[in-house]
Amino acid sequence: MTDSIRFILNGEDVSLSVVRPTETLLDYLRLRRRLTGPKEGCAEGDCGACTVLVGRLIDGSLHYESVNACIRFLGSLHGTHVVTVEHLAAKDGTLHPVQQALVDCHGSQCGFCTPGFVMSLYGLWLSTDKPSRAQIEKALQGNLCRCTGYEPIVKAAEQVSAARPSALFDPLEKSRADIIGRLWSMQTDETIVVVSGKERLLVPGSVAALADLLAEEEDATVIAGSTDVGLWVTKQMRPLNPVIFINHLKELQTITAGETGFTIGSGVTYSRAFSALAAKVPALGRLIDRIGGDQVRNMGTIGGNIANGSPIGDTPPPLMALGATVKLRSIEGLRAVPLEDFFIAYGKQDRRPSEFVESIFVPYPLEGSHFAIYKITKRRDEDISALLGAFHLKLDDAGNVADVRIAFGGMAGTPKRARTVEVKLLGKPWTEATVEAARPAFDADFQPLTDWRATAGYRQLTAKNLLLRFYLETAGAPQELRRFAEAEV
Ligand SMILES: Cc1cc2nc3c(=O)[nH]c(=O)nc-3n(C[C@H](O)[C@H](O)[C@H](O)COP(=O)(O)OP(=O)(O)OC[C@H]3O[C@@H](n4cnc5c(N)ncnc54)[C@H](O)[C@@H]3O)c2cc1C
Ligand code: FES
Ligand code: FES
Repeated sequence: MTDSIRFILNGEDVSLSVVRPTETLLDYLRLRRRLTGPKEGCAEGDCGACTVLVGRLIDGSLHYESVNACIRFLGSLHGTHVVTVEHLAAKDGTLHPVQQALVDCHGSQCGFCTPGFVMSLYGLWLSTDKPSRAQIEKALQGNLCRCTGYEPIVKAAEQVSAARPSALFDPLEKSRADIIGRLWSMQTDETIVVVSGKERLLVPGSVAALADLLAEEEDATVIAGSTDVGLWVTKQMRPLNPVIFINHLKELQTITAGETGFTIGSGVTYSRAFSALAAKVPALGRLIDRIGGDQVRNMGTIGGNIANGSPIGDTPPPLMALGATVKLRSIEGLRAVPLEDFFIAYGKQDRRPSEFVESIFVPYPLEGSHFAIYKITKRRDEDISALLGAFHLKLDDAGNVADVRIAFGGMAGTPKRARTVEVKLLGKPWTEATVEAARPAFDADFQPLTDWRATAGYRQLTAKNLLLRFYLETAGAPQELRRFAEAEV
C-alpha cells in the first residue's frame, strides 16, 4: 500500500500525501500552485476555460488528451502528465506555434476563454496531422466564447497544421522519452490510500483490489471519468467520503469486437470507444460525437453513463434497443443483468453497494435490420437530450415487422422500452397505416415530465413523430418526405 498521489506537472515531479478526495485539479493548479492560466468559467465541464492536457501511458506509448480541470479530481491523476498553458511558450518568451497562429489570425480573445482554446487546439495539433474543418470544429465543441466569433480560431488551427510537432520547439516532443520513463516509474499495482483528516481517497491497484475495497467500504463513491460526479461536488457541494478512483484500471479499458457483439469495459471513455463502435454501428459513432465536447468525451465513460442511471443518459436507450447486458462484479463473482432490467426506478439501479460495473455486452444490430438514434436537443453541440429515441427494426421477406425494439430516454424516470408501441407494430406490415395506428400507444408507455428542457406535451408528440421519421427513413417514402426526415441524428 502507498500513501501518495504522484504525477508530473509540466516539467516537475509532484508527490502529494495530503489530498482531499474531492479536490479538483483546477483548484490545485490555481490555488495551491498559482498556475492561473486555466480559468474557472462554469465549473461544470461546459465552457472549456479550464482545459489542460493529461498525458497517460497506453500500451507503452504516451497519449495526451484535453480534459476539464474543473471537474477532474486530483486523486485520479496518479501516474499521468498534467500540462497547463504555462508550459507552451519557450523560456525566452517565444510563443508556441499554436499560440502564434492564434495571434496571427486574430483568434486570441479575452483572457478567460483564450487559454482553453489554446489547449484544445494544442491537443488537436499533437494528435492530428492536417485536421479537416469538421475535426477542428469537433475539437472546439467544448470551448465556449459568448462574445465573438470562432472563424479566426478555426483559421489559426488550419494555419498551424503546417508546422508539425518537432523536438526543436515543442515542449512535449522534446521531453517525450524522458516523460515516458518518469511515468513508468510511477506505475504501481499497489492500492494507494491517501488520508486527509477524516477523509480518504482510494486508488485500487487492480480490479480484484477494487472488489475487495467495495466489499469493505459500502459508503464509498466510485469515480470513473467524474463528468457526472464532478458536478455533484462543484454544483451541489456534496461531501463524498471515501471515494474510489477507477479511471486508471487497464482491465476495465478494453473494448473487443467479438462474433456477435462488443464487450465494452466500463472504463472505456467515449473517445476511446468511438472508432470501434462507429465502424460497426455508425449511428453510435454519430451519437458519441454529440456527447459533451472533446474534454468530456476524453474523460466520461459508457460505464459511468449506465451506472449513473440518469433518465437522460444518451447511451442506455440505443444499447437497450440492441439488447445489451450489464456485467456486475463483486467479491462474490460476476452477475449479468439485461440493461433494461438494470434501471429499476428513478435513482435506483439493480446494483448492490459491493458491486461495480465491469463491462457491457452489446450485440450487433440484427442482420439486415434498420437501426437509428435520434437525439433531440435545443442546440446541436454539447447539449443534454430533452429526449432521445432508439429504434431497431427487422422486417421479414414479406415486409412485416419480424422484430422491433424501441427505447427512449427523457420520457420516464428511467431509460425505458416502448413495449406497447412495439406490440402494436410486431407482425404488422411496415406501412404508414401501421405506424399511424401505433403512435397513440406512446401514451400508454410514457407519461413524461415538463422541465426546463421540454414540456411533457412536446416530448410526447416528438416521440410519436420520431416513429414516423424512422418509418419515412426506412420505408422508401417519397423523396421529398425522406429529405425532410433524413436530417442528421
Ligand atoms: C459538459 C458535459 C456534457 C455532458 N453531455 C452529456 C451528453 O450529451 N449525454 C450524456 O449522456 N451525458 C452527458 N454528460 C454526462 C456524463 O458525461 C456522462 O453521464 C458520462 O458517461 C459519465 O461517465 P463518467 O465516467 O464520467 O462517470 P462518473 O461521473 O465517474 O460516475 C457517474 C456515476 O456512475 C458511477 N460509476 C461510474 N463508473 C462505475 C462503475 N464502473 N461501476 C459502478 N459505478 C460506477 C459513479 O459512482 C457515479 O454514480 C455530460 C457531462 C458534462 C460535464
Ligand atoms: S470551468 Fe468551464 S469547463 Fe471547466
Ligand atoms: S469568452 Fe472570451 S472572448 Fe468571449
